[in-house]
Amino acid sequence: MNISIFGLGYVGAVSLACLARDGNNVIGVDIDPVKLELIKSGQSPVIEEGMPELMAAMAASGKVSVSQDVQHAIDNSEVSFICVGTPSQANGSQDQTAVLRLAEQLGKALASKSSHHTIVFRSTLLPGTVEGSLKSLLEQHSGKVDGRDFDICFQPEFLREGSSIKDYDNPPFTIVGANSETAHVQMQRLFGHLPGQYHRTDVKTAETVKYFCNIFHALKITFANEVARLCEGLTVDPFKVMDLICADKQLNISPAYLKPGFAFGGSCLPKDLRAMQYVAKQADIEIPMLSQVLSSNQVHLQQACKKILALGSRHIGMVGLSFKSGTDDLRESPLVDLAEYLIGKGMQLSIFDPEVNLSRLLGANKRFIEESIPHIGQLMTNDIDQLLASNKVIVLGLNDKHLVEQVLAGLTAEHTLIDLVHLKQRADVRGNYIGLCW
Ligand SMILES: NC(=O)c1ccc[n+]([C@@H]2O[C@H](COP(=O)([O-])OP(=O)(O)OC[C@H]3O[C@@H](n4cnc5c(N)ncnc54)[C@H](O)[C@@H]3O)[C@@H](O)[C@H]2O)c1
Repeated sequence: MNISIFGLGYVGAVSLACLARDGNNVIGVDIDPVKLELIKSGQSPVIEEGMPELMAAMAASGKVSVSQDVQHAIDNSEVSFICVGTPSQANGSQDQTAVLRLAEQLGKALASKSSHHTIVFRSTLLPGTVEGSLKSLLEQHSGKVDGRDFDICFQPEFLREGSSIKDYDNPPFTIVGANSETAHVQMQRLFGHLPGQYHRTDVKTAETVKYFCNIFHALKITFANEVARLCEGLTVDPFKVMDLICADKQLNISPAYLKPGFAFGGSCLPKDLRAMQYVAKQADIEIPMLSQVLSSNQVHLQQACKKILALGSRHIGMVGLSFKSGTDDLRESPLVDLAEYLIGKGMQLSIFDPEVNLSRLLGANKRFIEESIPHIGQLMTNDIDQLLASNKVIVLGLNDKHLVEQVLAGLTAEHTLIDLVHLKQRADVRGNYIGLCW
């Protein structure tokens, strides 16, 4: 393919060398003439393992050329990769000056091009930028229409400085956010051979995934470092601890617990977090991230409260009270907290939870309900049909199969369902459906 690359920093220079190595003709464009001269003479503009040799070979192969002329690059390529920098501004916002300026220039160059062109944004861009300001600038300055006269897509880059060629050849996956079939076919031709799964998404999802991959990496590093500081205080080897944590591929290094849902609770997670926070306090160890976990959990609970209160109904039917499906354990159940909050706001609740009702009959949880939350115990019903008939707002807090079936069967067009569990059958819900944050 004939390709142009705009921005020859770490991402652009490595992509230029690797795409040329893979048999494509590549034109590199940068506003920095020093970088262009270096590439022209077969030298790498970035210090990266393997780049000096690869750049020298690619410059000699005749597959690489450089230019400062945007029009020339657009006219002589069918796909353009945009790899300009998107650094932070002093206030933390993303500085999009380079990419916005470039979009204007690209638009002007596209105006006179008669054949199809695809623009692939690879710079990290805030969700919505490509189909927002960048698409507008391209259309405005070209007088053409995205999806008809040219295509735009977003393909996040996952290479890391220091191992960028290896990462280019071995990405965790390839994600292409595009609306057009032509763009997907072109991207698959260029990247379909790479290991790791090829995912097609919409543009905004691809922009978003890139951010949360980086944020997740930052979170993991911070977790390991906070664990290490605590371990030092406890005189435990942090490496042994983290190695063992990583050895659990079922619950720790796995998709477990990584699905959006309701706040966590139960008899273990909150108390163990609090105990370790207390250890840190006593030893003067700062763990700002871990010590905010419970507050963040509370904010999540408040999210449910806000959505329920916004409906303006005083009668609420809650389905589920225990801290998760399949248990009657009410200790630190976020649904108990939710019920208490709503009662405090003057709501009239009716609560159904078959496991808890059963435990009341058997006496297992009876004492906790009678002594700790008698006001909630009084609101419990064992008649779900009655609960659905007398409340138009239903909060679904547990994802038990039988419970869900009962709720779905009893909902009518007048009901509003607030879903805290991301119900699989949400498309089939009769009435108004409101997800917690989806
Ligand atoms: N560095 C990484 O490891 C990495 C990994 C993944 C994603 N990213 C993202 O990729 C993008 C590029 O990162 P980088 O580290 O390669 O940046 P960089 O700062 O090293 O390079 C950016 C290049 O763009 C050039 N440029 C600026 N305006 C231009 C214009 N109008 N026309 C042509 N060239 C122009 C600059 O001169 C510079 O050479 C950023 O959005 C970054 O967040 C970086």
